[in-house]
Amino acid sequence: MSNNERTYIMVKPDGVQRGLVGAIIARFEQKGYYLRALKLITPTRELLEEHYKDLNDRPFFQALITYMLSGPVVGMVWEGKGVVATGRLLLGATNPLQSNPGTIRGDFCIITGRNICHGSDSVVNAEKEISLWFGKELAEWTHHSHNWIYE
Ligand code: RTP
Ligand code: MG
Repeated sequence: MSNNERTYIMVKPDGVQRGLVGAIIARFEQKGYYLRALKLITPTRELLEEHYKDLNDRPFFQALITYMLSGPVVGMVWEGKGVVATGRLLLGATNPLQSNPGTIRGDFCIITGRNICHGSDSVVNAEKEISLWFGKELAEWTHHSHNWIYE
């Protein structure tokens, strides 16, 4: 497992409106992952339909797109060992009523249709989502605590 694995994490419109951007960033920062990109975006329908295209035959798809179009989102790229799977653990289960306390969804929201954050579900999808939302705009930098986080 590479220390350079990357994931796409997004604060959804409800998370931005509710002032939870900083709290969500803090979970990833405190864990020890490195921030490679960050931006506030008002996404187009086309971008969202591409991002969620694997779900386009699901009954909730139109409601999901409407929800995601309801305000700006904050997209981020986080990097580190196991960040895709561990990022999903930090977010918690899709249905916040089943998310453990201590996870982002477990602590900050109640229903699936307002679950405040997105995280890539595989390394392959993470790379696709990063190029969809950021292209090649990732910052390369060395974290000053690198040798305190990794052996
Ligand atoms: P995400 O992609 O947003 O990180 O969420 P996820 O992997 O945990 O769940 P996924 O199955 O990919 O669903 C994407 C988002 O669609 C909404 N959803 N609504 N009403 C429903 O039954 C339903 N199911 C999913 C949620 O906002 C979910 O995060
Ligand atoms: Mg998903």
